[in-house]
Amino acid sequence: MKNMDVSNAMSIKMDDIFASLPEMPDFEEGIRRAPKRPLHLNKAEIALALKNALRYLPEAWHNTLAPEFLDELLTYGRIYGYRFRPVGRIWGKPIDEYQGKCVEGKAFQVMIENNLNFDIALYPYELVTYGETGQVCQNWMQYRIIKKYLENVTQDQTLVVESGHPLGLFKSAPTSPRAIITNAMMIGLFDDQENWERAMSLGVANYGQMTAGGWMYIGPQGIVHGTYGTLLNAARMELGVPEDGDMTGKLFVTSGLGGMSGAQGKAIEIANGVGIIAEVDLSRIQTRFDQGWVSQITWDAAETFVAAKKAVAEKKAVAIAFHGNVVDLLEYAVDNNIPIELLSDQTSCHVAHGGGYCPQGLTFEQRTDMLKNDPEGFTKKVDASLVHHYTLIKTLVERGTYFFDYGNAFMRAVFDAGVTEICKNGENTLDGFVFPSYVEDIMGPLMFDYGYGPFRWVCLSGKESDLLKTDQAAMACIDPDRRSQDRDNYIWIRDAQKNKLVVGTQARILYQDAMGRVTIALKFNDMVRKGEIGPVMLGRDHHDTGGTDSPFRETANIKDGSNIMADMAIQCFAGNCARGMSLVALHNGGGVGIGKAINGGFGLVLDGSSRVDDIIRRAMLWDVMGGVARRSWARNENSMETCVEFNDMWKGEAHITIPYLTDKNMIADLVDAKCKK
Ligand SMILES: NC(=O)c1ccc[n+]([C@@H]2O[C@H](COP(=O)([O-])OP(=O)(O)OC[C@H]3O[C@@H](n4cnc5c(N)ncnc54)[C@H](O)[C@@H]3O)[C@@H](O)[C@H]2O)c1
Repeated sequence: MKNMDVSNAMSIKMDDIFASLPEMPDFEEGIRRAPKRPLHLNKAEIALALKNALRYLPEAWHNTLAPEFLDELLTYGRIYGYRFRPVGRIWGKPIDEYQGKCVEGKAFQVMIENNLNFDIALYPYELVTYGETGQVCQNWMQYRIIKKYLENVTQDQTLVVESGHPLGLFKSAPTSPRAIITNAMMIGLFDDQENWERAMSLGVANYGQMTAGGWMYIGPQGIVHGTYGTLLNAARMELGVPEDGDMTGKLFVTSGLGGMSGAQGKAIEIANGVGIIAEVDLSRIQTRFDQGWVSQITWDAAETFVAAKKAVAEKKAVAIAFHGNVVDLLEYAVDNNIPIELLSDQTSCHVAHGGGYCPQGLTFEQRTDMLKNDPEGFTKKVDASLVHHYTLIKTLVERGTYFFDYGNAFMRAVFDAGVTEICKNGENTLDGFVFPSYVEDIMGPLMFDYGYGPFRWVCLSGKESDLLKTDQAAMACIDPDRRSQDRDNYIWIRDAQKNKLVVGTQARILYQDAMGRVTIALKFNDMVRKGEIGPVMLGRDHHDTGGTDSPFRETANIKDGSNIMADMAIQCFAGNCARGMSLVALHNGGGVGIGKAINGGFGLVLDGSSRVDDIIRRAMLWDVMGGVARRSWARNENSMETCVEFNDMWKGEAHITIPYLTDKNMIADLVDAKCKK
């Protein structure tokens, strides 16, 4: 086969997409850059990585690009193809400004470009949207081809994207997904950090996180509602706040003002409490300050706690960003006997050794240098810092603090650093950890078990007026008197505009249960049909009732032993494909790291058609209830109740298997009598 034959065989021509070699773009000052990623490749593998990257490009450019790509690989640990990044700002524009042969093709371009917006993406030049490593795709060649395919995809085709690689456009039907995406789905034997890093460097894997590689990230707002709900409920459960109360006069201490963690300041203020958020990277503090998502910046621990104490006494809602290491902050609190009511952590411990956790004793800049020049020394420092961090938390908990793990694999990282006492059984992670995790204790039983999850939408017209109309419509669909969750959700959407949550596209997050999501989606589609609003992209975070199997997080409150299985997430993905969601995604890893979770999500473009009404009715209900059904089968009480209601409501049309419960004492007595261990 000759390259000429290859070129002739493609009707959408790479020679056109890469007709000329763009100039190497300048990197804009002040835009964060990803640190060097681990590079474990030998010489033969480096050659393979170069061939892999060059297969996107016409032969004419190979001699120029081969040394350039080699330099990128050796310098950054990855080949990003920087040269092919379009010059200037990328952002999610109004849908009418995109080319395409169907509304979905244009809608996905809005979503992708929103994920790469300088205001939103963590490392936009490296296509990282959030979570330290969560990428839209691997490199800018893929980006250009995906964009071209989205301009060409028709109602009778499906774009297949495998770990960022656009495999092609395949024949399907108007009722099929327009895009099916998978990221980092590794074979079990090789499903570990080192093989994944190798695959990333070779250019055959992409880390999708959750909504980065699924193109449904909507900026930091996407996580604010969940954080708000978590904080409110933690305070209600542990600090004596009444069921309808908020966090007035309560102090929450945490870390991280990055992609998702950046939501913490906003959430604590909306909940009316006082927050201290430690962050080592000043640029991220500045971003959140400029957005109005933190209200004060402090530089030393003493000053920080004085400011917090004052705000608590005055019952003011304040989010204080402490520029420094969270370990230093907690050390100060322990040494000075400062009470902390609620405590958590949102450093990126799922990649603790890869840059996600800055060890005590290093500034952010020193962390970046050391990662590049002495990765082994860096790993040792991270582990030592994690062990100390854990000891400080333990002391604070002994003094009355309620600490919860925020799904960032913090406890797992502490265990990996050698602390076995963090495990419930003192030996391994099979029985979980000594501190509660926010899903295990709060979100699982109070939200996911009922089906409440992070439903979200983007008004593709880009008009704020459309978003306000959808806010009003969604609010009208909620009965605030049904459950406390509904009341919180009602207040959330009522105040959403006032809380200025939009960064990037005109998007909204709103926790809803299965029927809530269906009702709101049908209402929005009707509004599109009547021309009251432009098309809408519906979706959700993968961090939801049914989308994610993750024993350290989303499925941490599954106690029938099935928390090590990933059947639910895969069934959710397959079921959404079968029922015609516009975009369907399935990923390995998510927020807890490779091999530790399988997560999936969807996007559904509302175009006002009755075809979409049908998809809403059959797919949205499945998307949530598949998860509730599995939680019910694990004997989670709130899910069982929800399934009883479901079976009653859908008699003759749908049916969930519900578990019989056993007499606890009968089983315990029997096992005691008959089994030795
Ligand atoms: N917000 C949520 O609801 C949620 C849910 C599940 C999981 N998570 C997890 O939380 C973590 C954070 O997510 P993200 O998207 O914000 O990641 P991120 O990498 O964008 O942000 C983490 C931030 O922590 C800062 N940091 C690192 N070490 C520090 C230290 N020792 N002291 C102070 N600051 C430090 C980093 O500079 C960075 O800004 C991830 O592991 C993610 O999976 C968040």
